Amino acid sequence: MTPFEWNFPTKLTYGPGRISEVGEIAKAYGKKAMVATYAKGSPLDPVIDTVEASLLEAGLEVVVFTGIEPNPRAQTIDKAIEMFKAEECDLVIALGGGSVIDGSKYISATAFSGGNAWDYVVLGDRVPREYTGAFPIISIPTISAAGSECNAGGVITNAETNEKSFSRSPYRIPKVAIVDPEVLASVPMRLTQDSCVDIFSHLIEHYLSSDAESEFADRQTEGMILCLKENFAKIIENLDDLEVRGQLALCSIFGWSGIQALGRMGCIPMHSIEMPLSGIYDLPHGRGMVVVIPAYLEHMADAKPHRWAKLARRCFDVTEQDDLKAAKLLSVKVTEWLKETGAYLTLSDVGIPDDKFEQMADDVVRMFPGPIPQSTPGARPVTKDDIVAIYELCK
Ligand SMILES: [Fe+2]
Repeated sequence: MTPFEWNFPTKLTYGPGRISEVGEIAKAYGKKAMVATYAKGSPLDPVIDTVEASLLEAGLEVVVFTGIEPNPRAQTIDKAIEMFKAEECDLVIALGGGSVIDGSKYISATAFSGGNAWDYVVLGDRVPREYTGAFPIISIPTISAAGSECNAGGVITNAETNEKSFSRSPYRIPKVAIVDPEVLASVPMRLTQDSCVDIFSHLIEHYLSSDAESEFADRQTEGMILCLKENFAKIIENLDDLEVRGQLALCSIFGWSGIQALGRMGCIPMHSIEMPLSGIYDLPHGRGMVVVIPAYLEHMADAKPHRWAKLARRCFDVTEQDDLKAAKLLSVKVTEWLKETGAYLTLSDVGIPDDKFEQMADDVVRMFPGPIPQSTPGARPVTKDDIVAIYELCK
């Protein structure tokens, strides 16, 4: 195992109907709350009203910032930061999916620390600005995917450059996450499929990227993958099943909490390779992962065949004893699974042409530089040529 530090500071409040407790919970953190959420005019509108009413009833003042996009724009977040400061808010209620919660992290920490949201992201050789603190965040996830509701990460997009990047800061970990399966049951079929695959992508990123051995981490990951597979099959039969929504919520939260990687934290190249799909073409992140995962698993199977083989045997019923042969079966099995669940999509299915592969690969190796020139870190250094080859397999 590699040495590590880990904690899980977010208080998890779970249960049907518990969104109405947000006012009582929030008043411990301030007197004026900004509710950050998507544009109005969606099935989420009644939920926004419920949250606002609960806050008002508990005696808080409320400012609502709507219009955070999927793939949240740094420019939109900067407007929210200005509003937060002008209104002298004390805390952020992040009501939405990973995009809204990620965006809210930049609102709370940038309003506290100064500058613009984009100043803080990883960007090639640039040294990102460091936060000095953050206002409290209460997260209310409306979709189970990113696990952002309980972690330190956050991804935003620069609409002026079409770049998408991330940062992590312990200051921004939400104080409380209110996970209400009645809210999660509003997610439609396609987004549910995308989000389950995003959860899967988080579970396998570290599993496949590290040489360190941690059987505890492996078993945590494998258990959550098996739980995800069982509940993915159930949720597409009945989107309103609150018990299943709850199980998927736990897979989302703990699949990207660090507990799945204790002692073998690795790099996350699949997410880097997906970022141009969202940054340039505005593809929802989870759908981008649907497209990228089978191609990545196929192209990189020889990078750490013993890791690929372990996952294939333990979670996808592969019995092949030769590691390299078993490793190559992983992509085949995952593709079968994505087709069974109706999730499988190619680049052409999502309307992305093949004329920018070189530029997209350049973006990845420039923004997330690896140990050799024109590469990004991964199970082995992933070169620009590798990335172009992976995009070719996504067609
Ligand atoms: Fe993700």
